[in-house]
Amino acid sequence: MNGNIIILGSPGSGKGTLAKLLKDKYNYINITTGDILRKQTGEIKELIDKGNLVPDNIMNQIVKEEINNKSKFILDGFPRTVKQGEFLESITEIDLVIYLEVSEETIKKRILERGKISNRKDDQDLSIINHRIEKFKKETFPLVEFYKKKDLISYINGEETIEQVFKQVENLSIYN
Ligand code: AP5
Ligand code: MG
Repeated sequence: MNGNIIILGSPGSGKGTLAKLLKDKYNYINITTGDILRKQTGEIKELIDKGNLVPDNIMNQIVKEEINNKSKFILDGFPRTVKQGEFLESITEIDLVIYLEVSEETIKKRILERGKISNRKDDQDLSIINHRIEKFKKETFPLVEFYKKKDLISYINGEETIEQVFKQVENLSIYN
């Protein structure tokens, strides 16, 4: 067991928030693909501003370089397609997949609220937020079944407060 974790969840489900709490308390290395991509310009920036996914081959290369023999890391935002999940399997081992379950209504509220203070273009406009949610349902949600079959997934109720969500996750107790 190398302690590697994936946090899976829709846009605004709390992936980044949870990843940071785990990092601060248990010294994980966080790999957040959204943050990596937001430093890019050109075509990649256009894709993420509109809420579209960056192509699998580009993402796989980025993550492979990031992981580069690391262990005890948290992946926040990757994999996002079954293709990415299959690639990940070929380069490293995962011990736990946390799936944050949150209703669409809550997600929209959270993202619009954050949009008031974030510079994220994809947070500003309800039609882009809806597009991100559609992409999640179509492209990313199949990963829940993918990891369920491998008996790696833990369902977490992401509707609760940040503290309660963290407590649920700590109860999975694989962290030391
Ligand atoms: P990414 O940055 O990963 O964005 P996302 O998945 O849309 O998710 P967010 O970061 O918006 O939300 P989150 O789940 O991290 O929640 P957070 O903790 O911030 O990706 C951006 C884009 O990059 C994608 O659309 C795509 O274009 C591209 N991309 C990234 N990875 C890719 C990949 N692998 N393949 C292809 N393309 C890729 O919380 C949200 C808000 O709610 C915050 O304000 C927070 O304070 C609040 N909050 C959190 N938890 C709670 C709680 N329990 N109660 C109340 N409020 C809460
Ligand atoms: Mg995030």
